[in-house]
Amino acid sequence: MTMPPIDLPGAPFLSQRQGHLWVEEVCLSTLAHQYGTPLFVYSKAAMLGALAPYQKAFAGRDAQVHYAMKANSALGVLQVFAQAGCGFDIVSGGELSRVLAAGGQANKVIFSGVGKTRAEMRQALEAGIACFNVESEAELDVLSAVALSCGKVAPVSIRVNPNVDPQTHPYISTGLKGNKFGIAHEDTLRGYLHAASLPGLKVVGIDCHIGSQITSAGPYLDALDKVLDLVEAIEAAGVPIPHLDFGGGLGINYNGDTPPAADALWAQLLARLDARGFGKRRLMIEPGRSLVGNAGVCLTEVLYLKPGEQKNFCIIDAAMNDLPRPAMYQAFHHIVPLAQRGGEATVYDVVGPVCESGDWIGRDRWLSVQAGDHLAVLSAGAYCMSMASNYNTRGRAAEVLVDGDKVHVIRERETLADQMRGERLI
Ligand code: LLP
Repeated sequence: MTMPPIDLPGAPFLSQRQGHLWVEEVCLSTLAHQYGTPLFVYSKAAMLGALAPYQKAFAGRDAQVHYAMKANSALGVLQVFAQAGCGFDIVSGGELSRVLAAGGQANKVIFSGVGKTRAEMRQALEAGIACFNVESEAELDVLSAVALSCGKVAPVSIRVNPNVDPQTHPYISTGLKGNKFGIAHEDTLRGYLHAASLPGLKVVGIDCHIGSQITSAGPYLDALDKVLDLVEAIEAAGVPIPHLDFGGGLGINYNGDTPPAADALWAQLLARLDARGFGKRRLMIEPGRSLVGNAGVCLTEVLYLKPGEQKNFCIIDAAMNDLPRPAMYQAFHHIVPLAQRGGEATVYDVVGPVCESGDWIGRDRWLSVQAGDHLAVLSAGAYCMSMASNYNTRGRAAEVLVDGDKVHVIRERETLADQMRGERLI
């Protein structure tokens, strides 16, 4: 059997030319030979192309896109979004330091997460971030005390848990009652009255993020209505809510998924906001995956082919430490050869060298390959490198960013010395 054709998520930035896969104006086989593998390759045009529909949707509105940098926190990637006018959604003091190192502005940073430490609060207050997205009543008290001790007032929003099912993988659902995130919507009014009574806090908004890889508008509309009902109740109780933050979560096409385009989704949400009289409010969003997921691929080399009675294995030099999503969420990523060799295809489980049966990157894939060939794992721009580890003492991959025919190395391959830095023999 020959390989069935696949659509290339990420087109038009990915193309096939003379039998080779290209990103923008650069041939990926050349990059694999030049920089070695595993290698993450990102397209700047693809990132800006993913941002454009958000910018189009919000044109003429008082709105700010905060890139949720946990999706991909490479400095070079942050720089692209900072230069395009984005703010950032962070979840740690480390991420704040990265934003500043990449040239981002602290006053366009919002700080999410259920477990902010006092030291992180202090760091963010000193830097002057735009807002703390607070996730519990206990955090309100601590943040107020920390702010007072620094002689500051902390701008806050409360993350509402609206109990809406985002219809996605359970590990990436965040807005259901059983999830650890946010304050239950029944308790939100009480939370705001409490926040407004604390001397170290200033209420500046409300926020909500219900999950990730969401592929329909319905859950967003349900969450939006619940948040707006709350805003009405909170304002009626005397606490103004200047901004509305609807989080991130919009899915991408990994394998025929059909999420709405960002502008189409927001046309619907903005129509609802307008209809309910909130269209002129300051609006904020926190997209991550939808800005970078299909802007990146991971290049890898086939090390061995291992035929078997039940399964054939294609063993590659990238593994679950580089691409953790299949092991963690049974996620699907297309895997395609960088150079078409034609000929018979065989069905393989594509696996890495890590000593775990969970170390698979793709199951039952038709490939026509030999040892030494290069493959691309597609849709690898989000939650791959940012979740990479050193398991099995594997150095983390190098990263390059392609801009037209230019190639920028934005992260060198991690060395053994990097990995062992700070360790001591007893
Ligand atoms: N805002 C908050 C508060 C979040 O927790 C997240 C993601 C985002 C925004 C961005 O969501 P996005 O637009 O990327 O869906 N590692 C998982 C995804 C975890 C998402 C965590 N929170 C994966 O690989 O599927």
